[in-house]
Parts: sequence; structure tokens; C-alpha cells
Amino acid sequence: LKKREDLEDDFLNCTPEDLLRFDDYNHDGYLTLQELYTAFQVVQLILPEEQNVSITTVTVGLSTVLTCAIHGPLRPPIIWKRNGIVLNFLDLEDINDFGEDDSLYITKVTTIHMGNYTCHAYGYEELYQTHILQVNVPPVIRVYPESQAQEPGISASLKCHAEGIPNPKMSWLKNGMAIAPKLSKQLLFLANGSELHISSVRYEDTGAYTCIAKNEVGVDEDISSLFIEDSARKTLANILWREEGLSVGNMFYVFSEDGITIIQPTDCEIQRHIKPNEKVFTSYADICPSLEGEAVQSCLWASAVNVRDKYIYVTQPKWNRIMILDIQTQKIIQSLGVDPLPVKLHYDKSHDQIWILSWGDMKKSHPTLQVIPEASTGENQQIICTHLNGMDDYFIPPTNLIINHIRFGFIFNKSKAAVHKIDLETMAYIKTISFGNYSCLPQAMAYTHLGGYFFVQCKANTSMPRIPQLIIDSVTDSVIGPNDDISGTPYISPDGRYLVSADEESRRIRVQAITVQGEIKLIYDLQTTMCISHLTFQSSFTEANQYYIYASSHLQADVLFVELSTGKMDLLKNLKDPIKSKDWPWNSYNRIIQDSGLFGQYLITPAKNSLFIINGRQNTLRCEVSGIKKGNTVVWVGDV
Ligand SMILES: *[C@@H]1O[C@H](CO)[C@@H](O)[C@H](O)[C@H]1NC(C)=O
Ligand SMILES: *[C@@H]1O[C@H](CO)[C@@H](O)[C@H](O)[C@H]1NC(C)=O
Ligand SMILES: *[C@@H]1O[C@H](CO)[C@@H](O)[C@H](O)[C@H]1NC(C)=O
Ligand SMILES: *[C@@H]1O[C@H](CO)[C@@H](O)[C@H](O)[C@H]1NC(C)=O
Repeated sequence: LKKREDLEDDFLNCTPEDLLRFDDYNHDGYLTLQELYTAFQVVQLILPEEQNVSITTVTVGLSTVLTCAIHGPLRPPIIWKRNGIVLNFLDLEDINDFGEDDSLYITKVTTIHMGNYTCHAYGYEELYQTHILQVNVPPVIRVYPESQAQEPGISASLKCHAEGIPNPKMSWLKNGMAIAPKLSKQLLFLANGSELHISSVRYEDTGAYTCIAKNEVGVDEDISSLFIEDSARKTLANILWREEGLSVGNMFYVFSEDGITIIQPTDCEIQRHIKPNEKVFTSYADICPSLEGEAVQSCLWASAVNVRDKYIYVTQPKWNRIMILDIQTQKIIQSLGVDPLPVKLHYDKSHDQIWILSWGDMKKSHPTLQVIPEASTGENQQIICTHLNGMDDYFIPPTNLIINHIRFGFIFNKSKAAVHKIDLETMAYIKTISFGNYSCLPQAMAYTHLGGYFFVQCKANTSMPRIPQLIIDSVTDSVIGPNDDISGTPYISPDGRYLVSADEESRRIRVQAITVQGEIKLIYDLQTTMCISHLTFQSSFTEANQYYIYASSHLQADVLFVELSTGKMDLLKNLKDPIKSKDWPWNSYNRIIQDSGLFGQYLITPAKNSLFIINGRQNTLRCEVSGIKKGNTVVWVGDV
């Protein structure tokens, strides 16, 4: 037995690990740690009430220290938690130093770190302090178009898309001088200044227009040029420049039974049709080989990706290969043999590589993952086998304006209650996150960099009807629990601020906002009549940093429209029935809906024997393109 003073000394010198170990030895009949402290009356903890909650705002890329305000003589070591997970004993790369006074030290703050952190003295969990970490991000902008030429009398739009936290404010300069829209009748600022609209251009409108986006932590700017010139005075260079620009960019590339159809949505015009019997460039092989007993030569595609607006890679599952389409020449330039039944592609921009999931057979009994490195070089492609086999699906988060590097992805077997984290660069397995406690079989995933949350759609192991999504915190790689009672397929808006969950069975759509404090808040619970197959986000035309959603159905012809700023719903009618689910075995999206990027205003969705183009700005049907069967693989190619 030690003297009381010695014991006190021992405790003071204890690390949290020692104390936990002490708890392990602390069998029945002995004092608990807290009782021990109390018995010696050594601990009197104080947290000033006004410090119960403390808000810290940091700019992305900097470091920060969160200091626990709980104090008192002989205060036991401080335990930090994020989303209920203890951080002290995790070996985290970015939260690796707990300081001399038990402060939490984040070496390089990113948007995934936002959220709530709590601290308490070990053994005194009831008294805790909450730190809310907000992360500010300087604006990042894109303008569109970079330059344009218009004839006098025509209207012109200059667009600017900005993201940042807080939301940036936008303004415009013309040739370096501020534009005051109210001074001119023909100049209009739309969507909080993200569009500058000139109703009838005159020669003097020619100029360099600078869009400036500014928030508390930074500024970004870029120029969009406008030239007003008579058609008679068009220079040759001008014509060439314009026509070249028009010929390949801003098109939907649709892969259907009838080959490849390139569609210009503004005029609903088929710009080019590559037939199944056309040849792969410099070879005698047909793009879609004819099958014995087949009356009409036809194609079968599953998945396609756009690689930097230079190439499209597209799978032909029945032919065990990937075709590479060169966008500039609009030709198939190469075919690449891959493992049997390639069904899913993802272009990993951060590493310029393509991930290929092949099923092996229709029962998915031998799935494999392969990688095509240096995909944007487009020639003499090689294929790497990853040894990440036996998983029938994967998820790799998309990049966006703010997050342009993604390091990790997940692979999973849809019949096993776990996901496995992989390093995208080394293609190595890192760790398994088990869902054992939740009996959740992962079906689909989505990710937001705000707070670093992954949302996992679950199927129950038993005959339970619906189980909620699970949330994984990417800071701790831990499951932090169910997403309330929200079930269905998760979709995240391009900026990471909205999570839309579509439940096929209940036909409900729930919209959650992820706040700048990393909170997940339900904003709409919408009962629809639609069994949703797929949905996509369209930037709003009336308000910056807002979206519309457009959703297609597994069974119905209609397309659903929801305005996220108001929750207003509408149905677009007069479309035709989708491809039957049984005729689309590659994934659960038997009717996709594809948007046209950051600045686009058209969306496309296939029916059984035709395609429908939607004007997302007017929320109307633009046209039907007939004679295209099962065109359920679509890629948007932006401005080249
Ligand atoms: C845009 O304008 C609307 C009203 O005109 C306003 O409510 C909203 O906060 C503004 N958004 C931004 C990002 O400034
Ligand atoms: C996926 O998990 C199920 C259930 O454990 C198993 O039967 C199946 O073989 C697994 N798939 C692969 C490809 O390993
Ligand atoms: C599914 O449930 C059964 C019985 O409850 C259990 O034995 C099995 O381990 C569960 N499988 C998964 C993947 O959770
Ligand atoms: C699973 O649940 C048990 C009991 O609720 C809990 O003690 C355990 O920590 C949980 N495991 C995980 C990995 O969450």
C-alpha cells in the first residue's frame, strides 16, 4: 500500500493508456477509478458555463488547436471524441498530437475535419465541453465560356460558378471597371451574379469580363471574353475556331444497340452516328461484332467514362473488352481486352487511372478489379490486375471544385456486412470497416467532403423490410451509426452540401443538408409517386449554390423535378417507358438521367426505343430522339 501523496503523484504522471489499463485490472470489489479519485477527494473539475460550447473557425490548410476548458486540481487526462469515437488512442495521421495540456492538435485542417469535438476528463464523462469546428474555404471559380463571338442584336450570357465556405459573393468587371447592373437596362445579373445576361449586344459590349468571387478568406477571379462582330466581317480564324469548338464539345455521347450517337442538345440534332459495323480505327474489326443468328448487327454496352474531355472509355461486357473513343476525331481508336464481363468503370482523376470491375460471370462468382493507368494518354494502354478480387462493387468519391484529390476508395461484397478501404494510388487494401452490429449489407455509397461522411445504403440480412443508411466518419474510419431512419440510395450534390436519399419501396425522397458546421439536417421529406431509378443534380438558374434534382423511374415514364431551395415538386410527363429492369442486368439504374455539367442546361434520359432531352432551365421536355434502342450508357462531353 502506498501513501496517499504517492498515489496522487502516480495518478498525475499517468497517461490515459495507463488509466485504461488500470480499469482493466479493476475487478469487482475494488474501487473504480472514479471512486478512487473521489475517495482521495483530489478532483474538483470546473467548466465555466459560457464555455460549454466553443466555436472555432479555421481556414482550410492551416493547423488548429482545440483546448479543453475543463480544469481543476489533479484533473485527470483529457479524452477527446469526435462523433462519439474516442480519438486519443487512434493512430491518426492528421490529429496526431495531443499537446502538453491535452489539447487536440490538427496539423492540416481540411473540410472533413469540420464538426463537433467533445472533451472530458477521464472518468468524468458527465462534464464535457463541445467544440464546433468550422472550416472556411477560399472561393474557387470557373467561367463559361472563356470566350464567345456574337452578332449585334443577339443576347449573350456570361456565366461564373463559384464555390467556397462561406458562400462567395460575386461581382463583375468590364475591362477592369465595375459593372453596376442597375445603371443599364440591358444588363442583368441572374442567380446572385453567377450569370451576366446581356439582352441585345452592341459593338461596344465587346470586352473582357472579369468575374470576381469573394468571401471572408479569399478571392478568385477569371475572365470571360465577349466579341461582337458582324457576320460579314468574320475572320477565317474565327470561323475555324468556332466550328472546331462546336464540332466535338457540348454533346451527349449515347451508347445504344444502334452504335454510338452524338447528340447536340441545344438543337436536338444528331451530330454523328457511328454504326455497329464501323471499324475500329486502323483495324478491320467491327465496333460491335455481329453475332451468329442475329438479323441486325447490334451493340451491347454497360458503363462509360469521360477522360478529361479527350477520350471516352466504354465497356462491352459480352465481348470482355473496353473500347476507347477519341473525342477529337470521333473514332474508336483501340479495343482493350479485360477480365470477363466488365460492367463498371470509374475515372479516378486524381491518379489519371480507370478502375474496371468485371464480374467474371453473370453470377458474379469471380469478380475482379483492374486498373488502366495514364488513361488520358489514350494510346497503347496497359492493364494492371489489382488482386483486390472477390468484391462485387466499389465506390470511389468524385472530385469537385474544392476537392481535387481523392486518396481512398472502398470495395465491398454486397452480401457481406463490411466495406474495405483501399489506397487508390498503391491499389492496396488498407482496412476493413465492419457493419457487424448493424447487419447492414452495403448496396451503394455516397460521400461528402463536408464533415467527411460516407453514407452507405443497406440491405438487411434478414427479411426486415428496410434498414437505415449507415454513416462512416472518414476522419476515424468508424461507423458512427445510422442516418436517422433514412433508407434508400444516397446521392450527394456536386458541392457536397446536400444528401438526397431515394427509397424505391416507400417512394420517398429525403433531402438532408450538410451544414458548414458538419451537421446533417433533414430539410425535406417528400412523398412521391415514383419508384426512383436514378437522379441527378442540375445547378439552379435563379440562385447561386442551389440545385434542382431530376429523377427517373424504374417503372414509370415520367421524370420528377424537385427544386431544392423550396421543396417544390413537379412531374414532367409525355415521356415513354424505361428499359425493363430485366433487360438491364448491369446495375440497378435501368433508366439513367444524365446532366450536362456545371454550366449545362440540358439533361438526357433514355426510354426503351428513344431518348428524351429535357431543358433543365425551363423544366420542360425539349425533344424526343427516336430510333435509339436501350441508350442507357451516356457520357457528357463539355467544352473542348
Ligand atoms: C441569392 O439571392 C437570394 C435572394 O435573391 C438570397 O436569398 C440568397 O441568400 C443569395 N445567395 C447567395 C449565395 O448569396
Ligand atoms: C460474397 O459474399 C457471399 C456471402 O458471404 C459469398 O457467398 C460470396 O461468395 C461472396 N462473393 C465473392 C465473389 O466472394
Ligand atoms: C445474417 O444473419 C444470420 C442469422 O441471423 C447470421 O448467422 C449471419 O452471420 C448474418 N450475416 C451477416 C452477413 O450479417
Ligand atoms: C457492438 O455492440 C456492442 C453492444 O451494443 C458494443 O459493446 C460494441 O462496442 C459494438 N461494436 C462496434 C464495433 O460498434
